Amino acid sequence: MSHTHERPLFSEFGGSSDKNVPWYTRDVDDSKISKPARELLQTYSGIPADEILPHVLAMRDRAWSIHPYPCIGRLRFLDLSIIQHPLFQTLIPRLQSSQTLLDLGCCFGQDIRALVAAGAPAQNLYGADLRPEYTQLGYDLFKDRDRLQATFFSANIFADQEGTDADPDDDGKTENGFAPLRGKLDIIHAASFFHLFSLNEQRALARRLIALLRPLPGSLVIGRQAGNVVAGEMPSRSDPSKTTFRHNGDSWWDMWDAVGRETGTEWRTEVGLKEVEGWSSGMGTEEGRGEGDRMMVFAVHRL
Ligand SMILES: C[S@@+](CC[C@H](N)C(=O)[O-])C[C@H]1O[C@@H](n2cnc3c(N)ncnc32)[C@H](O)[C@@H]1O
Repeated sequence: MSHTHERPLFSEFGGSSDKNVPWYTRDVDDSKISKPARELLQTYSGIPADEILPHVLAMRDRAWSIHPYPCIGRLRFLDLSIIQHPLFQTLIPRLQSSQTLLDLGCCFGQDIRALVAAGAPAQNLYGADLRPEYTQLGYDLFKDRDRLQATFFSANIFADQEGTDADPDDDGKTENGFAPLRGKLDIIHAASFFHLFSLNEQRALARRLIALLRPLPGSLVIGRQAGNVVAGEMPSRSDPSKTTFRHNGDSWWDMWDAVGRETGTEWRTEVGLKEVEGWSSGMGTEEGRGEGDRMMVFAVHRL
């Protein structure tokens, strides 16, 4: 077992919680809460209709003060993005027949709740996030702390996978929450996740996901993220010394082809780029972003 303290590879450091930024939506009324999110909060969480908006906004601000992600500021967690994924309907029978799913970078865990409400057995679901506070906020948002059977854990996907976590503050002996899942997952959902990192970091990430998935045809990675018609590195919003890579269909395929060759595995990729409000210029045109930005929906199938 290794006890080295490798530097985590993730490229987001801090970031201001100032709300005066384009990716924090200030004027929010009931219409901003999607029908599926409203139904989930009413029927699954039991929150009265007139309490949903203030409840959601209070939870958003608690999450924003932990880290100001655009998906939090723009209330994109209310999209329940997994239910919009073209393969969503295929996930439920797979999970009902004992397959397992990890929601990587799950934040509030909203997509785990959407799967449970759609009939997925919660005991087959795992949610992982760097920040344990988000897991606790998820229980508060969905009011299910005492009943949800899904497993949540906090861990850094880039940490040493052999068993120890690479948190520089720990003593090197904390078990990495991902270690027990190695080779045991059937599906990994990674929404608004790959796009946080540079291309080199994303390649390392893809290799980590390959190791977590069952080494069988049909193992699957799905999600959505910010993409661009012209693939390339962009300056990181929160750390100007870093970059984050925006993919198009070709660069996404190239990346999975490269990590496939490195790991002796083969993958088929599917990508859709869509022009969607909130995934383009509003992200911060003052930083030179905007043109060509798209929402990218993807699936990666092990052959
Ligand atoms: C942009 S949010 C996306 C949240 C959610 N998947 C969604 O689509 O709304 C990214 C999430 O990934 C988590 N995260 C960032 N770096 C991570 C890492 N290295 N390992 C695990 N989780 C990480 C963050 O704490 C955050 O909750």
